[in-house]
Amino acid sequence: MCGIIGYIGKRQALPLLVEGLRRMEYRGYDSAGVAVAMPSGIFTAHAVGMINALDEKLAALSGLAGTLGIGHTRWATHGGVTEQNAHPHADCTGDVWVAHNGIIENYSELKNELTARGHVFRSETDTEVLPHLIEEAARAYPEAGLGEQVRVALQKIIGTYGIVVLDRRAPETLIAARNFSPLLIGIGGGGIGDGEYFVASDASAVLKHTKEVIYLDDGEIAVLTPRGHHVSDLGRNTRTKTSERIEWTDDEVKKDGYAHFMLKEIHGEPEAIENSIRGRIVLEEGGARLGGLADALGVLREAQRILIVGCGTAYHAGRIGEYMLEEYASIPVETDIASEFRYRKPVFRPGDVLLAISQSGETADTLAAVREAKQKGVFTLGIVNVVGSSIARETHAGVYQHIGPEIGVASTKAFTSQVAILALLTLLVGRQRDMSLVTGERIGSELKKIPDLMREILKQERAIKKIAAKYKNAQNFFFLGRKYNLPVALEGALKLKEISYVHAEGCGAGELKHGPIAMIDKHLPSICIVPHDSTYEKMISNMEEIRARKGPIIAIATEGDERVQTIADDVIYIPKTLEMLTPLLSVIPLQLFAYHFGVQHGHDVDKPRNLAKSVTVE
Ligand code: F6R
Repeated sequence: MCGIIGYIGKRQALPLLVEGLRRMEYRGYDSAGVAVAMPSGIFTAHAVGMINALDEKLAALSGLAGTLGIGHTRWATHGGVTEQNAHPHADCTGDVWVAHNGIIENYSELKNELTARGHVFRSETDTEVLPHLIEEAARAYPEAGLGEQVRVALQKIIGTYGIVVLDRRAPETLIAARNFSPLLIGIGGGGIGDGEYFVASDASAVLKHTKEVIYLDDGEIAVLTPRGHHVSDLGRNTRTKTSERIEWTDDEVKKDGYAHFMLKEIHGEPEAIENSIRGRIVLEEGGARLGGLADALGVLREAQRILIVGCGTAYHAGRIGEYMLEEYASIPVETDIASEFRYRKPVFRPGDVLLAISQSGETADTLAAVREAKQKGVFTLGIVNVVGSSIARETHAGVYQHIGPEIGVASTKAFTSQVAILALLTLLVGRQRDMSLVTGERIGSELKKIPDLMREILKQERAIKKIAAKYKNAQNFFFLGRKYNLPVALEGALKLKEISYVHAEGCGAGELKHGPIAMIDKHLPSICIVPHDSTYEKMISNMEEIRARKGPIIAIATEGDERVQTIADDVIYIPKTLEMLTPLLSVIPLQLFAYHFGVQHGHDVDKPRNLAKSVTVE
């Protein structure tokens, strides 16, 4: 989704801004722009398309010196994808410039009022009301300072925002403010300030320059100058903020010789699982130790129901967690899409615990579900990757994934890590209830083997690539599974859709005969997940039904299963593991299939069209 970068310090701002924008490219965007304060005035450039298009414009110019600037990558919400709509946006005088993430809900009313007072708008965006409101505040309170002028403007806004603001008349001030849209301040000079600050919506944009960051909270405004920073709320109360250290290294944000981040991340899954489970399995007790849940053990012991929420891939992981927790921890679980959960009227009961799953920790719908539950007095937990993100900070307790940054827009290693952590949670909650020591030990020791089993599957990449090429012309796919592998079927279909733009439908295999089977013919391949587990015979029957209707079948089956070969056109084998852990293996061929299918169609799989990595709008 949109990315924000800002810089104030002693260095030239422009290269730092462009570099920051490039590092946020993975979030998804359709246009970009910068504004830099120079002694002669404000320089701005906007371009539609990739950062390269902006860079080309900038390369044609020279001598753009300035140590204060802001930049933005836009993912269109209000107004088409045009240069005029690309941020930063200015007031009538061209002195005030604003880059904004989020949505200003009352913009059309504000725009009408501002227009009636003589303001001229140059874009169709909701954002543009902001610089005009700041312009009015500057006129009304010329001595107040930019921070105060921005505060006055923000008091008129209804909606969500993460903003950076600069004003030609205040060359030593950069303003940042947040409401429901993530924003952090990077403290330059190696974390000691030294007159240098970055503002970014994403830590990866500043990692190369500093690891010391301050996360802004909702309703906060930061005034950054070469002399220091001051954070306050909309009511002018000073907020004391402490900085946090980001553990990710800059190297983790590079491709390491892989053609795409997505491929690097698929190949990184064994290591990601190792990092997610390291030190957390207590084999001798048949249980799990999760530091972030240490204070929540009592609540979990008493819990009557777990409500899992997430979006997209995280939701699919949650659905697998539901099967695990119900089967092995004997606790009722309901999993819901966060955007549905928050807009219906969830009926909470005493003993409910809400578990939010989110790689980014910033997904607006998931965060809203957490807030809704908290407001109703429900204890909330998170499984989150990004340290210090909103969901990580707002849940009562939680588990970090420890998998480093996930850059590819299509989530891969985050999914398997979430599933692995859900297995750990199952151990923890299960052992508090009726799970036996032997069962706990078995799950723990099988989970430990998963990274090596994943490595075995990754060795089959070439064969999977060939299968993807064989079906290259198919326009529709079914992904079918049962029980633990139904969510994997949903996830396989989502991956294919996202990066190849070919239609795919994930479906419980038992549902096939209730409608979808009407679609089956020789042109519609079905990818059937058929490991040797409790649903095996049923899956085989479903595959026979497909075959009888001449539908091509690609099977994901357990090593040594020759029967499947007699039914399927192509088989990809995965090693044997516990039924509840099969999703950790069966999803890998699906991720590789989607990756190669997308690449063979000539798509930029790391930046699929219309998609954003972190969906911070509702
Ligand atoms: C799919 C994908 C999305 C995310 C979803 C939730 O590949 O990446 O479906 O899983 O937007 O994102 P997080 O986990 O950041 O809350």
